[in-house]
Amino acid sequence: MDSDLEFHANKAMLEWQVELGADEAISETPVNRFDVPAALPVVPVGRAPAPAAAPDDAVQVALDPVVEAKRAAGQTESLAELRDALVGFEHCELKRGAKNTVFADGNPAARVMIIGEAPGRDEDIRGQPFVGRAGQLLDRMFAAIGMARDHPDSDAALYITNILPWRPPQNRDPKPEEIAMMMPFVARHVELVQPEVLVLMGNISCQAVLGRRGITRLRGAWTSGLGLPALPMFHPAYLLRNPAAKRETWADLLMLEAKLAGGAG
Ligand code: URA
Repeated sequence: MDSDLEFHANKAMLEWQVELGADEAISETPVNRFDVPAALPVVPVGRAPAPAAAPDDAVQVALDPVVEAKRAAGQTESLAELRDALVGFEHCELKRGAKNTVFADGNPAARVMIIGEAPGRDEDIRGQPFVGRAGQLLDRMFAAIGMARDHPDSDAALYITNILPWRPPQNRDPKPEEIAMMMPFVARHVELVQPEVLVLMGNISCQAVLGRRGITRLRGAWTSGLGLPALPMFHPAYLLRNPAAKRETWADLLMLEAKLAGGAG
């Protein structure tokens, strides 16, 4: 093909891909970021490598990610340090497929800390929790009782995070081992923020914090999680699919408002 023709053929192909929705330049050969690299010899935790091994033998100690997460989170003394510890945590495969580590949003002085599930597509792109359609509904729900993330007054402010800081592929449910390795970070997050109450958005958050799911039964009553009063609520993504459930959510918001005003809630 002469080079002029080749240029126009390539240009036409590129325009065709853009028309199909391609918006990113990637390499010619696909990279599977979830692929586990070829296993090095593994030594079970706690067992020392054989002393006779040649010094250049590649030995990889099988680290327990939950122990590593507890160690990393436990060393942090501020939210900035906790964020850095999460960004540096290399034991969760989800991180490889994510664009951003989604840490938190809102006012850290807030009395209310909301814990969601995991970032979706919009959150992954922007690096902030609850910024897609479900997040916009969440903002409207709390605005109805006079609360907003970033409100300067801690009484009216919200602080928002998720159980997982990385988007699971295709928004699949988090796996139990992924939740387990993120919980030390979530627990430390709550310790550092010191909210008065937690709001648990949906089943995954309830499973992670309370060890129970079944949001339809859990919602509508205060319980306790991570040492604090906790209110399970329908996830706003569920409300988008089931608008009739907004009625119960309104009742839950009023319970929260009453609790913050000093009542039983
Ligand atoms: N759903 C969540 O649980 N968290 C987000 O940040 C976005 C959607």
